[in-house]
Amino acid sequence: MSEGMVLHGRGLVKRFGPAVALAGVELAVRQGETIAIMGPSGSGKSTLLHCLAGITKPDEGEVTLLGRRVDTMRERERSALRRTRFGFVFQFGQLLPELAAEENVALPLMLGGVPRAKAVTQAREWFGPLGLGGMEHRRPGELSGGQAQRVAIARALVTGPAVVFADEPTGALDQSTGHDTMRILVEATRRNGASLVVVTHDPQVARWCDSTVEVRDGRILPAAAVAR
Ligand SMILES: Nc1ncnc2c1ncn2[C@@H]1O[C@H](COP(=O)(O)OP(=O)(O)O)[C@@H](O)[C@H]1O
Ligand SMILES: [Mg+2]
Repeated sequence: MSEGMVLHGRGLVKRFGPAVALAGVELAVRQGETIAIMGPSGSGKSTLLHCLAGITKPDEGEVTLLGRRVDTMRERERSALRRTRFGFVFQFGQLLPELAAEENVALPLMLGGVPRAKAVTQAREWFGPLGLGGMEHRRPGELSGGQAQRVAIARALVTGPAVVFADEPTGALDQSTGHDTMRILVEATRRNGASLVVVTHDPQVARWCDSTVEVRDGRILPAAAVAR
């Protein structure tokens, strides 16, 4: 394992029936590194993210987190790993509508056994820095799209994950709100020393990240072919 490497996918192949979603992908994620994944719709970006995050088992290849095989773990172990070492931000509608914003953020801590009062206190600390001061008691339906995604960012980071995965997290927002939200995501993960793997269509967002990979037809294009 090379210096500072956190997550490593090698030779990843994933088929859905006759469709080849991943055709042999290698991706290494270093500690604290932010990586943008770009590429046309259907090129395999989400499948790659899901394989790296232990959500989907690749048909071939391997995924290691700090040298530990993820793809061969039992589902129970993989799900514990996702809860403790990874954070997730998806496009839309991922907050539980009946819970207050602060309870949504506290949830991953409570699932990990932190008592409710302590979890909520810890969760509240994220609101000010993410520009959400005063929103603690609102339900998701009482938040704007950008605010809801910032709550989702807090929820992804609250457990101190090694890697945050975000799949087109601003795809449902207007461009300017999307930019603000993405900048907050990149900065907040950096501040917390977490790595970030983010799928985005926005070249501006890719520029804020440390590196960009382009996916085409289930493969990563050589770095020289990626225009920045
Ligand atoms: N659960 C699934 N069942 C069948 N085909 C799938 C499934 N997930 C993805 N695919 C197929 O795999 C390919 C890559 O999909 P995906 O990773 O979602 O692409 P992207 O995120 O880049 O849009 C597409 O052809 C898609 O139709
Ligand atoms: Mg996708």
